[in-house]
Amino acid sequence: MGTTAVKENIYWVGAVDWDIRDFHGYSTYKGTTYNAFLAMDEKIALFDTVKSNFKDNLLYHISELTDPKAIDYLIVNHVEMDHSGCLPEIVKEVRPEKIFCSTMGEKALNSHFDTEGWPIHVVKSGDSISLGKKTVTFLETKMLHWPDSMFSYIPEDKLLISSDAFGQHIASTERYVDELALGEVMTHAAKYYANILNLFSPNVQKLLEKVGELGLDIDMIAPDHGLIWRGNPGDILDAYDRWSKRETKRKALVIYDSMWKSTTKMARAIAGAISREGVSVKMMNLAVNHRSDIMTEVLDCRALVFGSPTLNNGILPRMADFLTYLKGLRPKGKIGAAFGSFGWSGEAVKHLNAAMEAMEISLVDEGLRVKNVPKDEDFAKCKELGQKIGQAVIEMG
Ligand code: FEO
Repeated sequence: MGTTAVKENIYWVGAVDWDIRDFHGYSTYKGTTYNAFLAMDEKIALFDTVKSNFKDNLLYHISELTDPKAIDYLIVNHVEMDHSGCLPEIVKEVRPEKIFCSTMGEKALNSHFDTEGWPIHVVKSGDSISLGKKTVTFLETKMLHWPDSMFSYIPEDKLLISSDAFGQHIASTERYVDELALGEVMTHAAKYYANILNLFSPNVQKLLEKVGELGLDIDMIAPDHGLIWRGNPGDILDAYDRWSKRETKRKALVIYDSMWKSTTKMARAIAGAISREGVSVKMMNLAVNHRSDIMTEVLDCRALVFGSPTLNNGILPRMADFLTYLKGLRPKGKIGAAFGSFGWSGEAVKHLNAAMEAMEISLVDEGLRVKNVPKDEDFAKCKELGQKIGQAVIEMG
């Protein structure tokens, strides 16, 4: 894999991680890339670095273009270690004239690394530096998704280097979205948003407004992961607008786990009844669906229907895992209901209801419990619950 010229005298010099399958709980089954960009002007600037074990790839790519020691500026858009892990070694190798980062970036660098003697220069939103023919304007993007995060915009090239925002976890030899199927890239962009940025949706809305106010002319968005959006970055900007406004569809998820298939039988009956009301339903069995793939479906659904049998007065472990993950990502504006079978004590529905209330998910029903194996009269109650959920989804618009 070689370097790619993304604009005149600006090159992709990052690394492709074909093997990564877990990113702090997010299933990266397509791998990922750590994108870094080298601007070759009167001053040579490197935008972000890569994960520490990919340092040699980064240096090899830079060496195809110039001696790494010729780099003048390091621009640290984000300090999370998939983009800064090799920074101490790069600083040692390059001995840059200046390292640019945000105010919070400086604090993050100091708390991650021994930065004694590093030539750190703090920049704020609207600050610009000249590389010669090219200018770099910085835009702080606090909590998208770390306090230190910022974008770098190069107006002469209409290029926005956007750190984690607009990224996708996809490893590929291709560098541009239009070299792959748009639908596939958009699915992974949605997964990225749902699992990394969803809780910061109000910040995303403010950022999109800010970009609009600044009137930035953008014809390329280069994120730090995955494919680069060129030609019409409107596709991804529109999607971020929809996702951050939390636009939903007539869609429900039945998220469940089961011990002896009784809760599975209830799940199927409830899902069938929701569907018959004209609502799209996805069955998400926690035994076979990864939490991060379920989150992608949560993004545009209206109803979350949770099913778990009672185990030791509680819920099944995979359900507890998912609820913890979901709570952290702060779903908003959803309705919900719970169900599950039980043998003798039957607390699972109570726990599921409490978890939903803690997330401000509006309960449409007190929940449905079935002792041991569902019978005809229980299936009738499942049908009633499904109808109630389906009608509530339709009433939402
Ligand atoms: Fe890709 Fe927040 O690091």
